[in-house]
Amino acid sequence: MDILEWFTSHTSVRSFQEKQLSEQLKKQLIQAAQSGSSSNFVQAYSIIEVRNQEKLTEVEAIANFKGYGAEHGVFYLFVADLNRNYQIASHSNNNLEAFSSMESLLVSVVDTTIAAQNMALFAESQDLGICYIGGIRNDLFRIAELFALPKLTIPLFGLIIGYPNIKNEVKPRLFQEEIVKIDEYQEMDPLTLQRYDDVMNSYYQERTNHAQQANWSEKVQEHFKINRRPEVIHFLKHQGFDFFEKNN
Ligand SMILES: Cc1cc2nc3c(=O)[nH]c(=O)nc-3n(C[C@H](O)[C@H](O)[C@H](O)COP(=O)(O)O)c2cc1C
Repeated sequence: MDILEWFTSHTSVRSFQEKQLSEQLKKQLIQAAQSGSSSNFVQAYSIIEVRNQEKLTEVEAIANFKGYGAEHGVFYLFVADLNRNYQIASHSNNNLEAFSSMESLLVSVVDTTIAAQNMALFAESQDLGICYIGGIRNDLFRIAELFALPKLTIPLFGLIIGYPNIKNEVKPRLFQEEIVKIDEYQEMDPLTLQRYDDVMNSYYQERTNHAQQANWSEKVQEHFKINRRPEVIHFLKHQGFDFFEKNN
């Protein structure tokens, strides 16, 4: 398969075979993750492989996914991590205030996401299936406790990787003319969006699993009806990000 073909054949996998990944393959996955770009090369992330079945069961309950289990592959918790950098910098008289800034937070979130997506793409190139699990943020305080996460760290999402049992149909993406703006921002074109909604309507109706009557705009409206996870801001504060006070 050529590279663009396997990029565009991505679908999240939520049903895996009972088959472990070899240690060699896991090493390669980490290698792929670490090969991504990193802002100022601060490498501000950690990756926790969750092997303990009790922890995994609790994470599954928090994140509301069921039955992947350790025997179905591997669960990595991706943690935005400025703690390592902080420990290093605190050996000298650096200005440690810089760590709790919004900018540092963004840097660590971007670094972590690049690493995860590098891992995901490599995994898919090896015919593995992946699924991000943002549901871990349903209880950030408990996740931090469960994995002994120190100050200046944030668990962002899990990434499940295993051998696919069921592969869903590819979800059509927004048209390029909607995503790509030339030279300056262009407002959304309602007609382009309508065409996309028609495509998504057919996709949702015809897909093999969880067929439903919906389109993309309706999904977006539904998603943003409520302020999700309002406690995130309290968690960030707890982890040492005090930019709220500074900026107010
Ligand atoms: C950061 C992130 C968090 C996600 N969290 C979940 C999750 O908790 N549970 C889940 O089933 N899918 C989760 N997904 C998968 C998305 O639902 C999926 O990528 C999206 O619907 C597009 O479908 P596709 O990946 O099959 O193309 C997550 C994706 C991302 C990028």
